[in-house]
Amino acid sequence: MKKLLLLLILIFIGIQFIPMNVPANLPVQEDEVLEAPQNVQAILKRACFDCHSSHTTFPWYSNIAPVSIFTKLHVQEGREHLNFSTWNAYSDEKKLKYLQKIPKAIKSKMPLPSYLLMHEEAKLSEDDKKVLTKWATEVAFDLE
Ligand code: HEC
Repeated sequence: MKKLLLLLILIFIGIQFIPMNVPANLPVQEDEVLEAPQNVQAILKRACFDCHSSHTTFPWYSNIAPVSIFTKLHVQEGREHLNFSTWNAYSDEKKLKYLQKIPKAIKSKMPLPSYLLMHEEAKLSEDDKKVLTKWATEVAFDLE
């Protein structure tokens, strides 16, 4: 038991030396940022922006492995897939694709469950989901 604990501690210390450059926040161009009604904006900010915007709030432990590994992958991938800070730079076609994906995404896997473990405040209520779904559907309808 003691040996196992020692081993775990050594592994924990060891992984701190793996270079893990957590992505930095990026400069934001105001005219590219998504404009949405206040209530929608508030939900996106609370539940999505850490991974889907150029402005991530990094908690102090985000630099400590293994959390840093998740942080790096989630923020990198999240921004690559969908970045609300560069929303207006997307083509209408791309916006439509994302808007159509949002209702399903929030029903199943967004925000990512591993993120919710440390970010209780990001959990979506049924009302939040309704607001986001209604908004995404309406904006998509206007684009079509
Ligand atoms: C902890 C990071 C994280 C948070 C928070 C998060 N996402 Fe994601 N999201 C990702 C990652 C990583 C992917 C790409 C991999 C995947 O689809 O699982 C993704 C993919 C998506 C996609 C699919 C995009 C595509 O190109 O197919 C949508 C839509 C989406 N997220 C919406 C949301 C919404 C809406 C919220 C807030 C309610 C949210 N996400 C919160 C990390 C996150």
